Amino acid sequence: MKGLILAGGKGTRLYPLTYTRAKQLIPVANEPVLFRVIRAIRDAGIKEIGIVIGDTGAEIRDAVGDGSLWGVDITFIVQEFPAGLAHAVKISEEFLGNDRFVMFLGDNVIQGGVSSLIEQFAKSQWDSQIVLTKVPDPQHFGVAELHSDGSIKQLIEKPNNPPSDLALVGIYMFDNSIINAVNSIEPSARGELEITDAIQWLVTNGHAVHPYVHTGWWIDTGKPLDMLTANGHVLDEIEHEISVDSGIDDQSEIGRSVTIQDGAKVINSTIRGPSIIGENTIIDNAYVGPYTSIYHDCIIRNSEIEHSIMLENSHISGVSTRIIDSMIGRNAIVGHTSKRPKALKMNLGDYSNFWIP
Ligand code: G1P
Repeated sequence: MKGLILAGGKGTRLYPLTYTRAKQLIPVANEPVLFRVIRAIRDAGIKEIGIVIGDTGAEIRDAVGDGSLWGVDITFIVQEFPAGLAHAVKISEEFLGNDRFVMFLGDNVIQGGVSSLIEQFAKSQWDSQIVLTKVPDPQHFGVAELHSDGSIKQLIEKPNNPPSDLALVGIYMFDNSIINAVNSIEPSARGELEITDAIQWLVTNGHAVHPYVHTGWWIDTGKPLDMLTANGHVLDEIEHEISVDSGIDDQSEIGRSVTIQDGAKVINSTIRGPSIIGENTIIDNAYVGPYTSIYHDCIIRNSEIEHSIMLENSHISGVSTRIIDSMIGRNAIVGHTSKRPKALKMNLGDYSNFWIP
């Protein structure tokens, strides 16, 4: 089997962070979402992985390299314009050949491993396996309606009146009959070749499509709040570890489920888990509360933060109000000044938001 990861798209709903960074490279629990996806596919025993890239391709190539970090071979496939998930399959035909494959959206985060699901499909006679899960807002997803025996009745992309609350999760398994399907469908109302329509084509034309209903959590990390939710779930799931190469002084209090990475220093501070402190980050006279990921080379001094994600090389110092529910980008500074006039001073990027209590 092969793996196909879709990592195009602009990530407009995550502006301003995604002005300067591919959305798939934003870390949850200090690991870019895309890297988790690569690991999940590798853990299912797949060695050949194609990554479909768009506007942010250069950055993704840089971060992923040739795949040797994970012991896999990576092939990059360039999608010139965002023309839909089925279009991404179309342009990957040469890479896919006649192999069965798993397609994974590079910004999806799902509970547990998906290895057993992929292995089960590899051995099966099914032409496709799709993953479904119950959601409160099915109109925003591809939706599946099932017969009473659990087989698929129909699949519709973002219906106004959803016939069920079962959404298509961004993980799909196919054999080469999907190539016929993507070549047979027409663009949708939003002008894209929808994978949902291609799978419906398989069903209509008598191919075996097996629906698997996932009951754990699943997050399509489109919006800042989704990133924070995914971050929380992953922090709950990972095994935490305090690096022997970190430094924690006697005045500090480290709670349960805390990861402290190499070179990090914790001085006179309290850290409550689940949380993670990145490489060479300094936490000094500060509080880091639950569900917080502080990435590499950051400084938090005389301040408090919780339920937040902070990217690399950013500083927070002397902020007297606790910072919560926040996403702080790279090289950002949140600080205190005693210079007059006594006022809020900011230098916010486009589409930033800033809330004052
Ligand atoms: C895409 C698919 C949709 C699926 C969703 C999962 O939507 O078209 O069927 O439910 O991914 O994340 P998009 O993210 O392109 O709006």
